[in-house]
Amino acid sequence: MGIDVWIDRDKVVSNVVEETTTSNIPEQAKSESVNKPIQVFPEELATLKEVVSVCKKCELHETRTQTVFGVGNTNADWLIIGEAPGADEDKQGEPFVGRAGQLLNSMLLAMGLQREQVFIANILKCRPPDNRDPKPEEVIACESYLRQQIEHIKPKIILAVGRIAAQNLLKVDTPIGKMRGNRYQYPDSELPVMVTYHPAYLLRSPREKRKVWEDLKIAMKLYKEIS
Ligand code: URA
Repeated sequence: MGIDVWIDRDKVVSNVVEETTTSNIPEQAKSESVNKPIQVFPEELATLKEVVSVCKKCELHETRTQTVFGVGNTNADWLIIGEAPGADEDKQGEPFVGRAGQLLNSMLLAMGLQREQVFIANILKCRPPDNRDPKPEEVIACESYLRQQIEHIKPKIILAVGRIAAQNLLKVDTPIGKMRGNRYQYPDSELPVMVTYHPAYLLRSPREKRKVWEDLKIAMKLYKEIS
């Protein structure tokens, strides 16, 4: 987990990717994503992605480059949920592609998972300007998109990374330090949710990696029990 791992972006699962169609992607983002494969989703998720891509339910549509729907295996057992796109994600249209994303990939590898095996999404589909925290009204506006993603993907377990993801997903204001290691349930379901620190926090506080590894081991044990 302490080792940086870079995954070749071209080695994504071949039956779910194709060359980028750039028709509705802004010019700035096009230059960032040239020749980059994008994921082709099954019909219902593809339709949802289209709906999200033109969403104007909150003010974030005014400042985004593009929406960041989520990426990965649409039949994944593991759903990883972060906070919101940052600058890199807003440019590339994919969650967790910056430095925090590299560390997230390492966390997944430590769990024996390739990034392409899981599905990765955020509480918000649009970047909050200056990486500020999401506003409550933005979380509410975006909530149904994540719920629909969960209904389609049907993961066996959710891993929420970071305080914002954990608190907004579970509708609690418990400090994240107290949530770690506990089994929660996604509201109105029996879907288990485990919580750990955000990889961006680990970049600032690398000593906390030990705690994250403890959390991941508990999550993996739970996954084995429910599988
Ligand atoms: N941080 C997040 O929570 N999500 C991303 O997609 C990128 C950084």
